[in-house]
Amino acid sequence: MTTPLAVSLETVNLLYAVSAVLLVFGIKQLSSPRTARQGNFVAAAGMAIAVGITLFHPDVEKYGLMAVGIAVGTVIGVVSARAVKMTAIPQMVALFNGVGGGAVALIAAAEYHRLAPDLGALPVDVIAGILFGALVGSISFAGSLVAFGKLQELLPGRPLTFPGQIVVNGLLLVLAIACGVGAGVTENGIWIVLLIVLALVLGAAAVLPIGGADMPVVISLLNAFTGLAAASSGFVLGNNALIIGGTLVGASGTLLTILMGRAMNRSLANVLFGAFGAAPAAGPAAAPGASGDGAMVRQTTAEDTAVMLAYASQVMVVPGYGLAVAQAQHVTRELADLLEARGVRVRYAIHPVAGRMPGHMNVLLAEANVPYPALLDMDDANPELNRTDVALVVGANDVTNPAARSNPESPLYGMPILDVDHAKNVVVLKRSMNPGFAGIDNELYTNPKTAMLFGDAKDSLERLVAAVKAV
Ligand code: TAP
Repeated sequence: MTTPLAVSLETVNLLYAVSAVLLVFGIKQLSSPRTARQGNFVAAAGMAIAVGITLFHPDVEKYGLMAVGIAVGTVIGVVSARAVKMTAIPQMVALFNGVGGGAVALIAAAEYHRLAPDLGALPVDVIAGILFGALVGSISFAGSLVAFGKLQELLPGRPLTFPGQIVVNGLLLVLAIACGVGAGVTENGIWIVLLIVLALVLGAAAVLPIGGADMPVVISLLNAFTGLAAASSGFVLGNNALIIGGTLVGASGTLLTILMGRAMNRSLANVLFGAFGAAPAAGPAAAPGASGDGAMVRQTTAEDTAVMLAYASQVMVVPGYGLAVAQAQHVTRELADLLEARGVRVRYAIHPVAGRMPGHMNVLLAEANVPYPALLDMDDANPELNRTDVALVVGANDVTNPAARSNPESPLYGMPILDVDHAKNVVVLKRSMNPGFAGIDNELYTNPKTAMLFGDAKDSLERLVAAVKAV
């Protein structure tokens, strides 16, 4: 039965094509901070067209339940997106990605239920699409929920491991695939239920042994999974928008996973099975003044640093995760404005994995209206650091650790870093001598060129602003 609202299938497919073009353009625009905001709107318009025209698809019959679903989803989406703090975006992405995976698994189960009576007559690719969607969607749903739990500190952030974990997970995968074969050859619904249950357990079991701070990479990978699962349900439903949208998500999630791994000099296997990030167990904060191996560090004051900054010709701000924790982006901008008014050239060196999610520093600094041309990516920033009078490190640690260049024993060895130690002077703003995410000491802090300004980054920057005004 067709509703009076229905338009022709050709019209639906034409508008799906328009929405696909908008999605591709939107994603392309996201690759530069200058166009990213507009890219977001363009992609959102593409998505709105795809969802909107689906309501007029000739196969759509019942609007009541859909209206309830859309209303509930819209309220939850809008309220949570408005309420979430910037530092909590990674777990929000995890949650939304998980919901996508879960939706694909539910569609697969519903389609199986609908088509099972004709199982023998179904083309193999349709059955395979259903089973793939159920398997991968469920893995993505459960894995994303565990990632959310870790980032939200509902679950322990440290890797939860036990001997033989990889073998157990391998076995779960084999059993899930065996249930998929069962579902493909008999129309008994128990097989697809078992497949989904095993895939849910596998998704959770695969993410539990991964450390909380590696979650952005895992979420990106699960995001790619959800995309591929959505594309497979597009084939099952004969829906072009789902095929194109899902493939875009699958491809971009895969590329992002690879790029993040590369920027950390870590293989995907190391992220998934390396139990990285176990090191810094909760303990007393390392006292300001001495590094872990007892070497002395030089402390400075806001007043001394202000004089150095005010009389510099070039200053490079090096932001890291601590900038996000302290929410110090606005006062950083205020300090930069003051220095520029005195003729100092101020720029920002952005490491691709500074912070805890891709683009973390760019988003924070954009929020404070830092001009885009002042942001230098790592390859442009490193030659400039040789000519820099003061490198002002704001809550960055691992991404500045020279051991990545010089110490083959270091877990960071080989990770591309910002060559902060090449600047004439280095001032580091952090609260203590505690290590960063990798859990290792930073030899930058005992370098004779380096002075430590201990304290919360926002407080220290506020003191610096006051002191620069007084110079
Ligand atoms: P980290 O190495 O984690 O160091 C952050 C530093 O900020 C800490 O040493 C901490 O020292 C300081 N800090 C925390 N709160 C602060 C506050 N309120 N005020 C001042 N300082 C504060 O950060 P990074 O240099 O940005 O490096 C990122 C790390 O995360 C890398 O190892 C990277 O591989 C990893 N990682 C990144 C991503 C992405 S996509 N960005 C994904 C996964 C993993 P105190 O406690 O002494 O203050």
